[in-house]
Amino acid sequence: MKVRLHCSFLVLFKLPNWCQVFRVPPNKNVDEIMGKVDGKIALVTGAAMGLGEADARLLTAEGARVIMTDIDDERGQAVAEEIGADYVHQDVAEETSWQDLMAHVGRTHDRLDILVNNAGISIIADIETMTTAQWHRTLGVHLDGTYFGCRYALPLMKKRGGSIINMSSIVALQGAAEYFSYSAAKGAIRSLTKSVAAHCQSKGYAIRCNSVHPGLINTAMAHAALEHGSGLKFNEAEDQEALRLQLGLGEPNDIANMVLFLASDDAKFVNAAELVVDNGATTIMQAR
Ligand SMILES: NC(=O)c1ccc[n+]([C@@H]2O[C@H](COP(=O)([O-])OP(=O)(O)OC[C@H]3O[C@@H](n4cnc5c(N)ncnc54)[C@H](O)[C@@H]3O)[C@@H](O)[C@H]2O)c1
Repeated sequence: MKVRLHCSFLVLFKLPNWCQVFRVPPNKNVDEIMGKVDGKIALVTGAAMGLGEADARLLTAEGARVIMTDIDDERGQAVAEEIGADYVHQDVAEETSWQDLMAHVGRTHDRLDILVNNAGISIIADIETMTTAQWHRTLGVHLDGTYFGCRYALPLMKKRGGSIINMSSIVALQGAAEYFSYSAAKGAIRSLTKSVAAHCQSKGYAIRCNSVHPGLINTAMAHAALEHGSGLKFNEAEDQEALRLQLGLGEPNDIANMVLFLASDDAKFVNAAELVVDNGATTIMQAR
């Protein structure tokens, strides 16, 4: 049997350098191939691990100059060094951290093209057992963090336009008894996103603002949720891949690919939208 490979199939994959020559147009050389976000300045919060780390890696690989922030400096710095990004310590719930950070970005780059408001925590508690301090901390990190991010990014973004990507969740679209404060925060991020987009459009700023709603994705946060729900010890499972398949877990790059799309000019007509990335979990009815 003859196997025929179509050219468009080949370009779906990131090719190693030595074979990129096969996709170079005749009037270009290998060094001139553009990444999806070539030359853009991107800021990713909560980038030391999980989804933020995957976003930072992919945006860097696609040509962006990435500034990573987190409270976990050891991990954050190690990843930044490995991929050639910048790292800045930041607690996103602190307003002054945003003022300092944006002053730094302004001094260093004089603009910001992409903001990914990703940092998050997940406190497992229902409305009757949760403490008020837990409520405020969840809203502080997720909602205040996202609000401050958008607020302080606008002055640097409005000169040239840009893309703001707010990490929400499918729990913004459903009820979640044991994630009471988390789902309230994610629901508010969903609405805040649309109002930021509306504001920018009414002011004539070329800034798009969208929310991403992941299903369960294979990160430390999801492991904690699964362990709580099932009594299962995720890291002790012998066959991790089989377990991930059985639980229907997505991988961090499934979300990073969506972030890359929204960050790139390919998404120039996508604005104020909620992009659900959950393999149908919220819309496909399960047989019982
Ligand atoms: N993993 C999932 O299944 C899933 C699903 C839906 C939404 N999300 C959302 O995606 C985002 C990333 O989640 P993840 O699964 O990668 O979580 P994670 O726990 O693996 O990583 C979160 C990162 O955020 C950092 N962080 C926490 N508090 C911070 C703060 N105050 N300031 C700065 N950084 C802080 C942590 O140090 C960590 O590096 C979160 O907003 C989360 O709510 C995750």
